[in-house]
Amino acid sequence: MRIVTFKSHEEMSVFAAKYILNKVKSYSKVNLGLATGGTPLRTYELLIDDFRRNFTSYQNVYTYNLDEYCGIAQNHPNSYHTFMFEHLFNYINIPKKNVHIPKGLSDDIHQEARIYESIIDELGGVDLQLLGIGENGHIGFNEPGTPFDRETHIVKLTESTRKANSRYFESMDHVPEKAITMGIASILKSKEILLLASGESKAEAIYQMFTGEPNIDCPASVLKNHPNVVVVADKQAASKLAPIKV
Ligand code: F6R
Repeated sequence: MRIVTFKSHEEMSVFAAKYILNKVKSYSKVNLGLATGGTPLRTYELLIDDFRRNFTSYQNVYTYNLDEYCGIAQNHPNSYHTFMFEHLFNYINIPKKNVHIPKGLSDDIHQEARIYESIIDELGGVDLQLLGIGENGHIGFNEPGTPFDRETHIVKLTESTRKANSRYFESMDHVPEKAITMGIASILKSKEILLLASGESKAEAIYQMFTGEPNIDCPASVLKNHPNVVVVADKQAASKLAPIKV
């Protein structure tokens, strides 16, 4: 696992967008794992800028989102489905059939989780997985305590995660209590992982993931077991890792 640090969220987003574009341009077909949240937003804007200026094609890109809230429809304003279309897919030429986002509304949500995992496997697995990190070290919606061998599954969100995400909802009461998420085992199947971390609120999680052995109290620490992980952080997120020069 290596870390690349930048002075600002803008600079790290430029790096992340270039990293993704390099994959998109270099291979005839790419399976991209994508995340939602505030951290990758600027990266997605930069991909859209590039599409407008350079017409980089996404015809042969297949995407697999990490997670989705349970109990809300795809077209709900706060669904991750809506987020991805509003912040990326509507503005690039990705065919809709290439987009995969777990369904949070289903008669059998556990079956839905099994189907999602098998779709990713059958389509060749994720080549590059983009991740954010929660203040408590979660990746996807895998909260502390999640066993490392879980594949796509249903989780009960912790109060801290619901609180952090309540900024997007009318009130805390509107934040769903459950989500469907790729599991840690699903994430570890990716060939390569790019984890983005920005801001002081992520500093403790970044510190925990780099120090000590992988442990379920900090889900992101499992990434030490993966051979190809790049952590992209701004100086605030990396601030507890001194003396690394930022
Ligand atoms: C989002 C996801 C989450 C976020 C994490 C950080 O699809 O899986 O793990 O990456 O909660 O969110 P932000 O970027 O909003 O701080």
